[in-house]
Amino acid sequence: MSLISRISGTGHFVPPHTVTNFDLEKEMDTTDEWIRKRTGIKERHYVKPGTGSSDLGYQASLKAIQDAGINKNEIDFIIAATLSPDHYFPGIGVLVQSKLGLEHIGALDIRNQCSGFIYALSAADQFIKSGMYKKILIVAAEVQSTNLDYSIEGRHLAVLFGDGGAAVILEPASKQENRGILSTHLFSDGRHVQKLWMDSPSPKDKPTFSYQIIDDKRCYPKMEGKHVFVNAVEKMPQAVWAALECNNMTIDDVDHLIPHQANDRISLMVAKKLGIPVPKVIRNIDRFGNTTAASIPIALDESVRNGRIQKNDIVVLTAFGSGYTWASALMRW
Ligand code: ACO
Repeated sequence: MSLISRISGTGHFVPPHTVTNFDLEKEMDTTDEWIRKRTGIKERHYVKPGTGSSDLGYQASLKAIQDAGINKNEIDFIIAATLSPDHYFPGIGVLVQSKLGLEHIGALDIRNQCSGFIYALSAADQFIKSGMYKKILIVAAEVQSTNLDYSIEGRHLAVLFGDGGAAVILEPASKQENRGILSTHLFSDGRHVQKLWMDSPSPKDKPTFSYQIIDDKRCYPKMEGKHVFVNAVEKMPQAVWAALECNNMTIDDVDHLIPHQANDRISLMVAKKLGIPVPKVIRNIDRFGNTTAASIPIALDESVRNGRIQKNDIVVLTAFGSGYTWASALMRW
């Protein structure tokens, strides 16, 4: 029997500590008005020291496992996506694996930043379709608040990000039912690495860690905001058009678009280019900020749990981020 894969459970977890734009005003040179007008963000969640992305991913995984109605021991593979692992190495896949107490199953880490969840979903989809695995945990989590440049130089970036985690369970579904992942499309263009990146720590530096690197601020994420904006609003629609063409659909067939929650102005511009009505676009950046790899699965989990996404709805995910990488996934829920 030929297989497709289907998301059978979702979950998300954000740290309880909420940081509003007004809180940021007290800590750095910014204003609620500037942040809301340029990004649509009102608040985000920050971890307390000692919490890593594996902890957020673990909590989200417990919820996804419960939602899928499976025993955690049925999970036979883990794919983790983050740009902010707890450690330089290893990645967080093995940490989530050990926190869940799942012995000896494989754990793969994906480094595709804002596109990480869709890249992970695409990889998991291939494993399910090939019959190699039957229940894959995909976990995406980020802790970014602890390494942002809150000075004037870095404030255009620092106000954007939030911490959070989300997870899904992917299982085989019968092709006859035609519910599940119908396509994924992945793209990259490494010419623009330096437009959105964190240069250090880099083993190209000897020593890799030095006070000079800190003084030069090479240890913070850097972004050329306008370059990112222009490319994000071009590439995300292209990825969605690829998905629609592949499935012989038009934008009118789509019930919900979940763009990576990079910046609300980007999401609205993507919607405009695609010609999809704004009410069909799922947007929650106002409450979470940009949680990078976790942003799409957080929005998906919220929308499934609050009943906005219903059985058989056509849902399109699209992301763009550091690399540059961009991607789409089209599914019938
Ligand atoms: N608070 C107050 N003022 C600020 C802030 C801030 N947080 N940040 C920048 N400013 C000021 C600058 O100092 C500058 O002031 P000046 O005109 O007196 O010199 C002015 O605002 C404009 O600064 P720019 O850095 O040029 O800001 P820009 O207009 O490009 O807006 C923004 C920045 C919102 C990030 C924009 O470039 C953008 O929307 N980019 C898209 C990128 C994005 O959203 N990325 C998300 C993360 S990456 C991803 O997920 C794909």
